[in-house]
Amino acid sequence: MKFHIETWGCQMNDHDSEKLSGLLVKEGHEPVASAADADLVLLNTCSIREKAVHKVYSELGRLREEKEQKPLLIGVVGCLAQQDKEAIFKRAPHVDIVLGTMAIKQLPKLVGEAAAGRKRVIDTQEYPDNHLFPPEVTQRSSTAKGLVTIIEGCNHACTYCVVPTTRGPERHRPVADVLGEVQGLVQRGYREVELLGQNVNSYAGGCSFAELLDRISEIDGLEWIRFTTSHPMNFTQELAHVLVANSKVAPFLHLPVQSGSDKILRRMGRQYTSAEYLERIAFLGEGRNRLSLSTDFIVGFPDESDEDFEATMRILDQVAFDASFSFVYSPRPGTPALKYKDDIPMRVKSERLARLQARQTELTFQSHRRMIGCVLQARIESHEPTEAGHWMARTGQWQNVHLKAGEDSTLPFGELVSVKITGAGPHFLTAETL
Ligand code: 5AD
Ligand code: SF4
Repeated sequence: MKFHIETWGCQMNDHDSEKLSGLLVKEGHEPVASAADADLVLLNTCSIREKAVHKVYSELGRLREEKEQKPLLIGVVGCLAQQDKEAIFKRAPHVDIVLGTMAIKQLPKLVGEAAAGRKRVIDTQEYPDNHLFPPEVTQRSSTAKGLVTIIEGCNHACTYCVVPTTRGPERHRPVADVLGEVQGLVQRGYREVELLGQNVNSYAGGCSFAELLDRISEIDGLEWIRFTTSHPMNFTQELAHVLVANSKVAPFLHLPVQSGSDKILRRMGRQYTSAEYLERIAFLGEGRNRLSLSTDFIVGFPDESDEDFEATMRILDQVAFDASFSFVYSPRPGTPALKYKDDIPMRVKSERLARLQARQTELTFQSHRRMIGCVLQARIESHEPTEAGHWMARTGQWQNVHLKAGEDSTLPFGELVSVKITGAGPHFLTAETL
């Protein structure tokens, strides 16, 4: 069969799609670039906010029309599948397969059954060994950065979050498995890996997360290690030290704060106060200046007063985040926060979000401007020049770089080059090769 996978959501989902694709290729199926050319379309879904769910159901509506024109199998996989289970068939009766996040290895079996004419096949069981996936099967979509799962699931219980339901409790991959996968990637030419988990810094697959970073960094040929995502309460002094001291760990930290108000943090079940969050950032010491710090915010959480929101604006300035992702609170099924009355008018929520995002744009611009004159390493991310002598690259701090090289230059994709930052915009840096 020809198959096409559409992916929403986080890097975890991107990587799951690489695994799903690998499982199908192994069975002799062929990936195609568009749903129009496919016999099987899989939607790898996200359910973190209501908007993400709407997108899936509207895409399912579009696919229904395609299914009226030609034979087509449609599968819903990922977080929405885990959350809505059979209810997906009720809302979208033309769906053939529903596969949960913890059952992805069952995909070939389910596709076989659906292809044989069985209606509405579903597996949303919580297989305990789903995180032990054979890396050689994975069909990687990026040739520059290899994604590597180190931990699946989440043991925190933030009151707004579906992830503990959609991804289950924490399961840790053994150290030897992780090291083996990274070694294999380096042998195949990868110089950069990103370690994935809902909360990578609670890793306990045989050593601490900080130690895991150090051990991975000993692999010859590997240049940068990234990781996402982290919970502030598991961000230890030991980890801060490795992040600052180990030159193979990319100088970038995404540490979601969510709010600057202690009242809201308590209601969110975040287990820290704003002062404790700032303490964690202080673990970085002087190293903070070399690092890019990014975060997530939720605005308009139930009962967020003007004062609470001002506390969020304050922590944004206190940390001077280099980047952030911010969202209006979205009530999610089955989450404890549903019991709170969500009574802040949408207009107020939107105004708060716009204010926060405008301030973030200024801070990002300032942080970019501070880099002018710096000489640093950036990885080439374009296969061809964007215009004569111009290339796209990315710094260890995760900034986009518009790079000017000689008119006839050919910069090898995936290579690290030394660049001098010559200019800055709110969304990118400009630089020249040295
Ligand atoms: N509403 C809005 N944003 C949410 N996030 C998680 N759950 C919700 C929700 N119910 C945000 C958090 C998290 C990021 C991945 O998505 O900021 O860090
Ligand atoms: Fe979305 Fe969370 Fe699932 Fe990632 S883990 S796809 S962010 S719901």
